[in-house]
Amino acid sequence: MKPRKSIALVTGASSGIGKATAERLTLAGYTVYGTSRRAAQANQQPFAMLSLDVTSDESVDAAVGEVIRREGRIDLLVNNAGFGVAPAGAEESSLEQARAIFDTNFFGMVRMTRTVVPHMRRQGTGRIINIGSIFGFLPMPYMALYVATKHALEGYSESLDHELRTRGIRVSVIEPANTSTQFDANALEPDSQLEEYREIRAAMVKKMKELVEAGDKPGVVADAVLRAALATSPKLRYTAGGRARGLQFLRRFAPAGLVDAGIRRDLRLDAVPAGETS
Ligand SMILES: NC(=O)c1ccc[n+]([C@@H]2O[C@H](COP(=O)([O-])OP(=O)(O)OC[C@H]3O[C@@H](n4cnc5c(N)ncnc54)[C@H](OP(=O)(O)O)[C@@H]3O)[C@@H](O)[C@H]2O)c1
Repeated sequence: MKPRKSIALVTGASSGIGKATAERLTLAGYTVYGTSRRAAQANQQPFAMLSLDVTSDESVDAAVGEVIRREGRIDLLVNNAGFGVAPAGAEESSLEQARAIFDTNFFGMVRMTRTVVPHMRRQGTGRIINIGSIFGFLPMPYMALYVATKHALEGYSESLDHELRTRGIRVSVIEPANTSTQFDANALEPDSQLEEYREIRAAMVKKMKELVEAGDKPGVVADAVLRAALATSPKLRYTAGGRARGLQFLRRFAPAGLVDAGIRRDLRLDAVPAGETS
């Protein structure tokens, strides 16, 4: 069991996976600080809420500073804040939109890490848990930018874990499959839509909606976070739920050609677009 007074900071705790994680950690005896860009509207939680926008250096400094001021330490950082772009062709997002999704999903995690790690180094102990995705080890056509942010998160996390291990700090990545949250509703619309992609875009939006609705409950991911947080010797990667476990097994052991063909078949990527003949 963790000592009752371990301090956890969970980004994006106003809904979905972050909220379930903050609740689970509170139940497990952590003193939890959740965050939201609209902290004032989210004060019905069983944990403290701080205002935080992970795209702002000042906001990150202020939120981390506030936890340190109140508690003097941070034992666990859960980098969860993130969003997607609704399914669309990769060329249907401007470079500005590409930068925006990286600024939250990847650089937001980097900002939080850079600000919290000095405190953990001083403590000589700490845990960082980054919410990745099955799309950190698999491709997802028509979600290229989101997938790129989660692949980047995996590489950063694995490298960081090697750097910090001798300083008493461990880093883990949680890899959920589709999870039923506000993720879909909060996704940005692609900002450079092209007529050529209209049909496939509609089909992919429908497919993604079905997957999210049939997805795991956020509590499944929260359980994986708690498992990683409490492990004496934490693993680098934790899948969350049976579907994610199955896909990771497939990625690791199935021949690449089989995975490639399976993705194209499952998403019907080789169906002839309307108006074209084979
Ligand atoms: N749902 C899935 O299928 C799924 C699967 C695998 C991984 N994930 C990952 O799980 C994480 C949480 O997603 P979710 O499904 O729980 O979605 P969600 O319900 O939309 O929650 C997203 C959270 O991120 C916060 N957030 C967004 N932008 C932020 C910013 N700039 N600064 C601070 N906080 C910000 C939001 O807080 P405010 O809007 O209140 O600020 C909200 O609390 C994401 O990293 C996502 O990539 C989701």
